[in-house]
Amino acid sequence: MNFRSGVLVPRLFLRHHAMAQVDLKSGGRADVPRDRLSVVVTRRLPDEVEIRLRELFKVRLRDSDAPMTRAELAEAVAEADVLVPSLSDTIDAGLLAQAGERLKLIANYGAGVDHIDVATARQRGVLVSNTPGVLTDDTADMTMALLLAVTRRIPEGLALMQKGEWTGWSPTALLGGRIGGRRLGILGMGRIGQAVARRAVAFGMQVHYHNRKRLRPEIEDRFDATYWDSLDQMVARMDVISVNCPSTPSTFHLMNARRLKLLKPSAVIVNTSRGEVIDESALTRMLRNGEIAGAGLDVYEHGADVDPRLRELPNVVLLPHMGSATLEGRIEMGEKVIINIKTFEDGHRPPDLVVPAML
Ligand code: DGY
Repeated sequence: MNFRSGVLVPRLFLRHHAMAQVDLKSGGRADVPRDRLSVVVTRRLPDEVEIRLRELFKVRLRDSDAPMTRAELAEAVAEADVLVPSLSDTIDAGLLAQAGERLKLIANYGAGVDHIDVATARQRGVLVSNTPGVLTDDTADMTMALLLAVTRRIPEGLALMQKGEWTGWSPTALLGGRIGGRRLGILGMGRIGQAVARRAVAFGMQVHYHNRKRLRPEIEDRFDATYWDSLDQMVARMDVISVNCPSTPSTFHLMNARRLKLLKPSAVIVNTSRGEVIDESALTRMLRNGEIAGAGLDVYEHGADVDPRLRELPNVVLLPHMGSATLEGRIEMGEKVIINIKTFEDGHRPPDLVVPAML
């Protein structure tokens, strides 16, 4: 990869495409391919997104809603200029080794890139982009929904109604806990963590956070947030923990058995980020033993292979990774993918380029 005049020029891209030469020194533009890029999309996307992709690129869309098999993915990376995967596709070094010389961009349909070996892609001259920002509010909304579902026992109430077993109001039935005034510890204070903080303040919660880097004072002031350098110390003092950091090698099992044991027995943990951040079997054990009061989970350590013991627990609310699942969000994710591909095709650096140093 070369950076010239502030413009990223993918080397292999230059080698294998007929190029219209554009003076880089004049700024803004690099060499532009004459042919339309061939794009392979691994999952079915909303109609609005697929229609636009068809208009702009030579695109192969997916009819089935099932994820591609490893063999189908290998075929896709062998033939495409641009791959549009999503979190259900594992793009590891083994798969990248099967990529054709044409593959120049992996324009991920999603914000998280933990399923992509970004460093290896980069070594092979393949850029990776993602879709940050457009699923922030939806995911933060779902964090609050889970928090309320657990603390206010919403699934138990729903089950009662659905079974037709409700016999009328009672002063002592289904008593939950009030979230106003409680201490919320946000683990990962990036875009989504801050969106959760904003909502939590509106619900009257006290915001605490742990992050790789302390936020600027004006952002802390916005949420009246308390920074904890020590995650252990924060965890031990919170009523609710919300996991909002990405999954990286350094966040794997950040909430391990030792740290989970620091939680107060009355504490609740919510995860709308990635399952790998929590040691799921330790969490399950502690929930079963009543060492933690409850959990609201949208994501799991082993994907859809959810520990069956978790499903049996009344103090746990489980959702099928739907934190960002709004039609608006999915369309905006598609728009981001398209902008990243189009910008790249025009010889510029994709706006949502992921570089290994960010991870
Ligand atoms: C993402 O884009 O990484 C989200 O987890 C999808 O919900």
